[in-house]
Amino acid sequence: MSAVVSKFRRTSREAGEYLGPAQVNAVSAHEVVVSKDEAQMAAQANSFDFILDAVSASHDINAYLNLLKRDGNLVLVGAPDKPLPVAAFPLIFRRRSFSGSLIGGLPETQEMLDFCGAHNITADVAHGIGSWTDAEIAGYLKFGHAPGHASAAGPMGEAVAHSLQFLNDEDVASLVAYLRSVPAQAGKQPIEIDFKPAPALASTDAMPGGDSGSAHAQGLQLFEGACASCHQWNGEGQQTPYASLLGTRGVNDVNGVNVTQAILQGVNMRVAGNNVFMPEFGTAYSDAEISALANYVIAHFGGKQGNVTPDDVAKRRSL
Ligand code: HEC
Repeated sequence: MSAVVSKFRRTSREAGEYLGPAQVNAVSAHEVVVSKDEAQMAAQANSFDFILDAVSASHDINAYLNLLKRDGNLVLVGAPDKPLPVAAFPLIFRRRSFSGSLIGGLPETQEMLDFCGAHNITADVAHGIGSWTDAEIAGYLKFGHAPGHASAAGPMGEAVAHSLQFLNDEDVASLVAYLRSVPAQAGKQPIEIDFKPAPALASTDAMPGGDSGSAHAQGLQLFEGACASCHQWNGEGQQTPYASLLGTRGVNDVNGVNVTQAILQGVNMRVAGNNVFMPEFGTAYSDAEISALANYVIAHFGGKQGNVTPDDVAKRRSL
């Protein structure tokens, strides 16, 4: 991997939109390329081994693919809300590839955008990863898990299992340094993380406590039968630290996007020689049961009222 680090901005002034290859040890980039300036972009053609694309607005991905060398790799970590058109020839002729969350091409990309809530990875302390230590970010990239913050599932799990875990330490450090340099933003749908949700704190590993009665009776009952053995009532997670739910953004998202997805599809990835596994419950449970479970998980581990409806679950199933 090239040790030269560049950042891309759409205009010379606009902040908050960066595309850049990983950097080795400096926090700031070696250069800034203005992506709307054709001469600057042309000067960079075929010169990058690796581009990390964190832009979540619609953008011309082909302009960046053209900057890759033969066999170069563009990893998309931003999640634009519309599909990105990709020209085949720049990919074919130079064997360039997408990886990370774009594994599989456009249909999967669309699917991913439809079902997956990609979280804020800016330096924002409350809503992004600003409070994570370097070691936590590095561990998340390499092992798909940052204790007390997140476990990767879905497309991010695939990115970890298929590519990020194989990065060497230097490359991981580069990615961390790059992510640190993304300006803080609260984002459109900021998620407030409750690190001390009352119900989970009132529970022990083996016994629930503090749940608000009848509203969550069905969810509690289902969780007891199907989930508590792995996740534990106090959220610590048994068997593997990956199953720890406390402090994760998934359970703090009142729309329950990733929570519903995890319940419907399960998780199955192989990282660092270990299987990280959660069975799928989509076949066993009805839409009403899954929404009850999701709202229970959000209440118990996120300390807030979830608003997942059976209709939402039905929609997710059909994606
Ligand atoms: C066999 C053990 C096991 C069982 C049973 C299990 N899980 Fe999991 N679950 C895991 C593991 C491991 C992870 C972490 C996977 C990862 O790396 O994302 C996980 C992740 C999750 C997540 C986090 C998803 C995210 O993106 O934040 C939620 C929510 C969840 N499980 C809910 C449930 C619910 C609800 C049930 C019961 C219907 C359940 N789990 C049953 C092992 C299990």
